[in-house]
Amino acid sequence: MSVLALGGAGYIGSHAVYQLLDREREVVVVDNLQTGHREAVPANIPFYEGDVRDRQFLKEVFAKEPIDQVMMFAANSLVGVSMKEPLQYFDNNVYGTQVLLETMVDAGVSDIVFSSTAAVYGEPNQVPIKECDPAMPQNPYGETKLAMEKMMKWCREAHDLRYVSLRYFNVAGARPSGAIGEDHDPETHLVPIILETALGKRKSITIYGDDYDTKDGTCIRDYVHVEDLIDAHIRALDYLKDGGVSDVFNLGSSTGFTVKEIIGAARAVTGKEIPSKIGERRPGDPTKLIASPEKAKAVLGWNPKRTDIDTIIEDAWNWHHHHPDGYGGR
Ligand code: UFG
Repeated sequence: MSVLALGGAGYIGSHAVYQLLDREREVVVVDNLQTGHREAVPANIPFYEGDVRDRQFLKEVFAKEPIDQVMMFAANSLVGVSMKEPLQYFDNNVYGTQVLLETMVDAGVSDIVFSSTAAVYGEPNQVPIKECDPAMPQNPYGETKLAMEKMMKWCREAHDLRYVSLRYFNVAGARPSGAIGEDHDPETHLVPIILETALGKRKSITIYGDDYDTKDGTCIRDYVHVEDLIDAHIRALDYLKDGGVSDVFNLGSSTGFTVKEIIGAARAVTGKEIPSKIGERRPGDPTKLIASPEKAKAVLGWNPKRTDIDTIIEDAWNWHHHHPDGYGGR
């Protein structure tokens, strides 16, 4: 039987594909290549280029392949764009998930591991954030992810769907071998932008505000290594297979770093100057996001191995340094 990875050619999805193959699982990839890269998926596994909203296409994939579990990575995920194009986000994310769930119900496939986000919490009242804390998204991206979680909850009641929703904090790093890594166009995330600056592809990094109520005035985030993040996904697949109940888990480290601390760590890892300047605050940025990952540790037995900030940056640097043009450079 196979695991279907929707969005398996994206940054996070491709790391899942590689780890599933490491563990000798069968895997099938669906991706519309809007932001994903065909080169990020090994050539010898079934790959279907198409859109999750295309009902007929998806039905055919489920008819052809022996799928028994699903991992859903396919979504638009930029907070800033979602503020300007909310309907595009509802269409791709919410409607796309609706079509997927309908197809799963029709095909009799019940298990799904789903990519959710810390953005469902909005600006938290307290950190570390627990799964039972209020979910009050402050942007359309977070709102779509919360809507997708709710859709799965009602499908659990009506159709015996079984799901694990994983709320990611700030994902960074790359496969330690350097075979795959992060390549977005445009890039908006902190760690790759810092490393592109280290490579000289950008003159400097702009820090979005230094007047926040934190120790150095810059925003605090909780960074999790993509390899550890995927380990939690595979544990979640096994948890569902073993009869675990549908649930929601945070994936983070319980440690927060300021933007300036991340730049400092990257200077130490790369040995490069990495010029920075202070800019305006970016609209919609919460001051401080730190996860409580205790539930994932207790229930899924999750035990992150590479989630310390130096290892995260070293692995990301290994990718960027060897692939300065991302997949385009291959
Ligand atoms: N930042 C900068 N300069 C940059 C880029 C980022 O100062 O050039 C800062 C941001 O203001 C923020 C921090 O670095 O304080 C991290 O920013 P990212 O864009 O890397 O990540 P976000 O925390 O904004 O976003 C992440 C996920 C989203 C998710 C969000 C939840 O990437 O998918 O967390 O709030 F929605």
